[in-house]
Amino acid sequence: MTLHRAIAIDGPAASGKSTLARILSRRLDLIMVNSGEMYRAVTWKLLQLGVDPHDRAAVAAALREIDLQCGVEDFNSTVRVDGVFPGDALRSEAVNAHVSAISAVPEVRERLVSLQRDYLKLGDVVMEGRDIGSVVFPETPYKIYMDADPGVRSARREEAGEVDSVLARDRADSGRSTAPLKIADGAAILDTSGHTIESGAEAALEILERQGFSMPIR
Ligand code: DC
Repeated sequence: MTLHRAIAIDGPAASGKSTLARILSRRLDLIMVNSGEMYRAVTWKLLQLGVDPHDRAAVAAALREIDLQCGVEDFNSTVRVDGVFPGDALRSEAVNAHVSAISAVPEVRERLVSLQRDYLKLGDVVMEGRDIGSVVFPETPYKIYMDADPGVRSARREEAGEVDSVLARDRADSGRSTAPLKIADGAAILDTSGHTIESGAEAALEILERQGFSMPIR
């Protein structure tokens, strides 16, 4: 039993999850947890170690040797791997290309889900990812599933200067057997294709209010 609340935001790549989570974190005084960065950090380290992302046994074995420290700085989640903050390397082309394979490994998910749940000991959180409403916090009433046109999502990554096959990642993330991307029970769907950042955030706040989230009094 925890006293803290979790808002779960799931959806495919570049659907606007991080942008929305950041806004909600500021407006509602929540710790923002980017769970994708945790999967990216493990991927970055395993690639550095020369582990084949498609060799599940090798991934699981190498994972056991890695020290992962998840923390919070200025209301944002941080992740350190063997004492190092990977920084911009988390969004490199190599990490983009291999993160789906690494995150399909059950041992990876088991370890990271446990670290993700630990955040609730620290305070109220808004956590974004692929399985937050379905696996990490299935009991939370506050769930949003974000989506946007595939073309809009690919363009967002290109505009950010990233080489990222978002559609290939979505296929892999939705098709895996452990904790696939899906609309969690009880999640409200928010399509951001026709929204500005501000109008999308307003729509999300209305959803959360409908789901019974009590807003802080300013
Ligand atoms: O949110 P993102 O695009 O930075 O996530 C990177 C990858 O991490 C994504 O393609 C799949 C994986 N991921 C996951 O499997 N489960 C999560 N809760 C978050 C991310």
